[in-house]
Amino acid sequence: MAGADRERPGGVVDSPAVSAVPVEHVDELQAYAAEVAACTRCRLAQGRTQVVFGAGNPRAELMFVGEAPGFHEDKQGLPFVGQAGKLLEKLLAGIGLSRQDVYIVNTLKCRPPGNRDPQPDEIEACESHLFRQIELIQPTVVATLGNFATKLLSGRPLGITRVHGHEQTTTLGSREVVLYPLYHPAAALYTPAMLKVLESDFARIPELLGRALVPEPELALVAEPAPPAQQLGLF
Ligand code: URA
Repeated sequence: MAGADRERPGGVVDSPAVSAVPVEHVDELQAYAAEVAACTRCRLAQGRTQVVFGAGNPRAELMFVGEAPGFHEDKQGLPFVGQAGKLLEKLLAGIGLSRQDVYIVNTLKCRPPGNRDPQPDEIEACESHLFRQIELIQPTVVATLGNFATKLLSGRPLGITRVHGHEQTTTLGSREVVLYPLYHPAAALYTPAMLKVLESDFARIPELLGRALVPEPELALVAEPAPPAQQLGLF
């Protein structure tokens, strides 16, 4: 069907929005997804239905990092397909974006039994997959959803209640990105006050994308106006 989105292996979405992505780039991400699909680095490999690699635009400027697949994600092989995912889609729509515009991954690629919290050794075993994904996708803004992704990518123990909505520039893998911590949508589902905060933090994403995207030469022009001719030689 012309113009329709199509899911490809590795959660790569083929759609008009990504048609300009070079084929080699998509191939590289798909090849990595195929490699990760066979991962046995930690105990979660035994209980999973499948690895949930990630999904979306392989050249997204905005990447979301959640916690771990739940029941539905494990069955379908895609991140954020349950209630939290529906809320994430609503929040994206509120800023004029859809799942096809962004790339969504989790800190852990496999479902912890009974949806328990990720364990430190599982996060350590899985983290290089996340860093490689960031290198391949090359986002400018990485939004972390909840405590686990935020603590891992900020490298600091500060909880999400303290740091949500505060962006910082940091180097992830070999890339400089704007890291933007947000409440996890699952936590906001049943707490209206948290949802309000999440919505207002979300509303700043377009500004962060714009800031990250301002071409350098223009910045230089604005930042350094030439001094008036009569002032030359005064310094
Ligand atoms: N679904 C996901 O894929 N990740 C989460 O962190 C929560 C729900």
